Amino acid sequence: MRKSRHCYDFESFICAICGLIGRSFSMLFVSGGYQVSVYDVEPAQNAVAKDDIWSQLNKLEEQGLLRGSLSKEQQFANITYTEDLAECVNGAFFIQECIPERLELKKSVFAKIEKVMSPDAIMSSSTSALMPSLISGDLTHKNRFVVTHPTNPPFYAPATEVVPASWTDADVIEKTVALLKEIGQAPVLLKKEINGFVLNRIQYAILAETWNLIRDGIVSPEDCDVIMSQGLGMRYAFMGPWETAYLNADGLHSYSDRYADMIYGIQKDFLPPEKIGGETLDVIQRGMENVAGPVENLEQRRQWRDRRLVALAKLKAGMNKEEAK
Ligand SMILES: NC(=O)c1ccc[n+]([C@@H]2O[C@H](COP(=O)([O-])OP(=O)(O)OC[C@H]3O[C@@H](n4cnc5c(N)ncnc54)[C@H](O)[C@@H]3O)[C@@H](O)[C@H]2O)c1
Repeated sequence: MRKSRHCYDFESFICAICGLIGRSFSMLFVSGGYQVSVYDVEPAQNAVAKDDIWSQLNKLEEQGLLRGSLSKEQQFANITYTEDLAECVNGAFFIQECIPERLELKKSVFAKIEKVMSPDAIMSSSTSALMPSLISGDLTHKNRFVVTHPTNPPFYAPATEVVPASWTDADVIEKTVALLKEIGQAPVLLKKEINGFVLNRIQYAILAETWNLIRDGIVSPEDCDVIMSQGLGMRYAFMGPWETAYLNADGLHSYSDRYADMIYGIQKDFLPPEKIGGETLDVIQRGMENVAGPVENLEQRRQWRDRRLVALAKLKAGMNKEEAK
């Protein structure tokens, strides 16, 4: 089945690989009404993906979080599986690669993809940290390449970074952003590529500072988590650091008048980052065992985390709906 009722008159769709992230993308794309064709180098993975997607669709329906206007049965039926890359790519306008995070592997798979794709299709990578210019530099159609980096799990944490290389065509960027919006994600366009993109740079800045505070005996790992989960995180669940600052004074100029000197004094005090390891790591490991239980028993804690993420996603969706009335 082909459809053309979407933004930019997109016709069909593909998601190249069906690991963890590939399955999530497939589900997001069908929730927007697209057809998805899935390919994995390991044919057995297709059966695993099919079962997992069906069980996830059921869960989403139970939680009231199934997206789009199609039933779970219709969404499930709109994903097909193939053991042939060329068949998967054939007719697709958007190709989402979700293979392991290895540069040479990604380069070789895109070299195969571009030989069989239509020349105006978009090649998109889920990479967490590989620069788009590194993955696409040797491709003939490198102007059709972009990184689309999701937050995991994408259904509950919709922010998705779109990272072009300097040679990416403008329409590739526009269409990727439009497509993500259409399927209910929250795209964030980086104006140029940078190591770690934005999400991980922020995440690692927090790791670096909390590491130094723990190493220097200022605070325990457990209490660092309290600062985030019971303090900063309460606001960050629905606003960013600059809106927080904006509201904490009468706008940003007022914030600067009141706090700029103090903030700069503290920022100049920050110590350089250290590679994670050694004694400090042992201290943090023990702290996290106290918070989250022993490593052998993490599945229960992961389920606890996921239940909370689902509840938060529902709360936010409900509040957004109320506000839009
Ligand atoms: N897991 C996360 O939290 C997360 C978040 C954001 C981005 N990412 C990125 O998404 C990508 C995929 O990660 P994942 O966690 O889904 O990995 P995964 O290991 O769950 O899945 C990878 C899949 O790729 C398949 N594969 C391997 N080589 C292949 C090839 N040559 N051709 C076709 N298929 C091949 C494997 O069989 C497997 O099914 C990575 O680049 C990762 O950095 C992951």
